[in-house]
Amino acid sequence: MIRVESLNNKFGHITTANDVSCHFEEKKVTVLLGGSGSGKSTLLKQMVGLGRPDSGSIMFDGRDITKLARKELYELRKKMGMLFQGSALFNSLNIYENIAFPLREHTNLSDSVIKTIIKIKLEMVGLRGVENMMPSQLSGGMTKRVGLARAIVLDPKVVFYDEPTSGLDPIASGVIDKLIVDLNKKLGVTSIVVSHDIDSAFRIADKLIILFYGNLIAEGTPEEIKNSPDPKVRQFITGSPDGPIPFTLTDKDFIEDILID
Ligand SMILES: Nc1ncnc2c1ncn2[C@@H]1O[C@H](COP(=O)(O)OP(=O)(O)OP(=O)(O)O)[C@@H](O)[C@H]1O
Ligand SMILES: [Mg+2]
Repeated sequence: MIRVESLNNKFGHITTANDVSCHFEEKKVTVLLGGSGSGKSTLLKQMVGLGRPDSGSIMFDGRDITKLARKELYELRKKMGMLFQGSALFNSLNIYENIAFPLREHTNLSDSVIKTIIKIKLEMVGLRGVENMMPSQLSGGMTKRVGLARAIVLDPKVVFYDEPTSGLDPIASGVIDKLIVDLNKKLGVTSIVVSHDIDSAFRIADKLIILFYGNLIAEGTPEEIKNSPDPKVRQFITGSPDGPIPFTLTDKDFIEDILID
């Protein structure tokens, strides 16, 4: 469904993608794991056409996202839903208008139909009666759910989730995890989830991809990743402070040393 091929991207001296190739299977949940600053959000954004990589391609439905003109991208985006890290709700719009936004942007549906759709989507994410609230009045968990309702409002084929459970309590995280899996199973949505919540990742993933400072260091089923002998992967999934990956890492040569080891 989505294929990333030889992707390279840098911001100044920071490499967010170093010859990354991977694919995301249709109707499956793929979780992109990696430490802070490893390039996960950048990759996710580039997959929805927000920002272009330096080189490489991102094939979606047989078309290269990185080469599309604005108008073609606009059309393709109807098939994509995105839950941004931090949810990216419009602060000056109430919840109803936030969720209505993609519908107003991409469809000619009447107000009464929009109203019904919004009610259904809010129920899907377990919210009721919040339509008139403003984003600043929501808790963190509610904000994520509203972001999610907006992400699925156009019935997308693919939903991209950037840190859907970060900052949530275990129960709220569990609810979001279940939602991601339910949407995937019930609606046949292809799901691409960025996370550094290892427990959540292993619960929901059909496949895991681990990024390390722009380098893809592992790709496989949860079982395969769990049994990986690679010390970087082991350190990452056990969250150990001791191992090849130090706490701070900015030196390019150092990153290469670790990758070679
Ligand atoms: N538009 C940009 N301009 C310059 N640097 C950027 C830009 N976007 C991201 N970066 C840098 O690229 C690196 C990767 O950022 P990214 O947001 O992709 O990381 P991440 O893996 O999502 O991290 P986190 O887990 O903390 O969200 C960081 O060092 C960040 O500062
Ligand atoms: Mg991020």
